[in-house]
Amino acid sequence: MAECYRPDQTGIMIGATAIREGKLVAFPTETVYGLGADALNAEAVKAIFRLKGRPADNPLIVHVPQTEAAKPLCVWNEAAEQMAKRFWPGPLTLVLPKASVIPDVVSAGLNTVALRCPRHPVALELLKACDLPVAAPSANRSGRPSPTLAKHVMEDFAHNSELIVLDGGPCEIGLESSVLDLSGPIPALLRPGAVTAEEVIRELGACKLPESLLRPLQEGEIALSPGMKHRHYAPKARLTLVSGPPKDVSARIRALALSEQGSLILCLSDRKEEYRGLNCRSLGKNAQEAAQNLFALLRQLDEDGISRAFAEAFPEDGLGLALMNRLLRAAAFDKIDLPIN
Ligand code: TXA
Ligand code: MG
Repeated sequence: MAECYRPDQTGIMIGATAIREGKLVAFPTETVYGLGADALNAEAVKAIFRLKGRPADNPLIVHVPQTEAAKPLCVWNEAAEQMAKRFWPGPLTLVLPKASVIPDVVSAGLNTVALRCPRHPVALELLKACDLPVAAPSANRSGRPSPTLAKHVMEDFAHNSELIVLDGGPCEIGLESSVLDLSGPIPALLRPGAVTAEEVIRELGACKLPESLLRPLQEGEIALSPGMKHRHYAPKARLTLVSGPPKDVSARIRALALSEQGSLILCLSDRKEEYRGLNCRSLGKNAQEAAQNLFALLRQLDEDGISRAFAEAFPEDGLGLALMNRLLRAAAFDKIDLPIN
């Protein structure tokens, strides 16, 4: 069995020692739980890929306790300085040209490296205590929703007797960090998160949004972020999203849900009334709460044996872009767009 610890001083010391010894430690961040290892130890990093069942071409994020610790790992630049000043520690990952100290397994052979300084106190203390850069993908088996509770990490990895899990309770944000590529002339948002495109534009004046944030990669198209080309966040249930005028959306979802036995509806709490008499679960009061709850709800769908689900689409701005990016993947891009008029 993997071992779960409270993240007090003893827990942090146990975790930090394990990382220094080349072992794996799952730890909370403000976004999702990470599965960490010494980023400078190629063998330890390989163990992350093995445990997750992660394709070797999908690079990892390297976590640091402060901006100064990121600089020797990459070719730092002005835009990075500006974004780090504004958003670190926080839910923002910066992609920059990689320094040679970073082993190729970490970056999956790319000449860039992804860097993040998380703001969760347990993550920060662990990073300081081990005094190493820590490579950490989300602490889920590949293809499962990211873990927002230590319980989710245990569901996926309890069988691993070597793994140490620091239980820091529920993650505050619930969606993975925004991944911003600053290695080229124009910043590009490779994965939307709680640091929004609007905020990037306000800070840097520009932000490219790859079309593949909200639609599948076309044949022959190259994924800017390797993670985008792998299937992600997929519940066993077939999920369909519906967008359009609110009244039309609920009418369509009602009709669809009535025609399919045992189906479940996901919407914000103030919309539940629209689905009276049907099996409906709330995502929360607003986009923030929906982000916190989404991955746990997707796991719950599987546990409850739900085979068919419908969800109301979110507006694609602010945090809504990140929510739709995850929901569309969970729905294998199955979305009905109702006409605006
Ligand atoms: O919030 C988060 O970012 C969490 C916590 C633990 O920090 N981590 C996380 O890691 O979500 P992971 O491995 O599940 O997602 C990392 C994403 C992947 O889509 C990967 O392809 C992309 O970042 N990525 C990593 N290095 C990259 C690089 N050099 N260039 C482009 N994309 C990169
Ligand atoms: Mg992941």
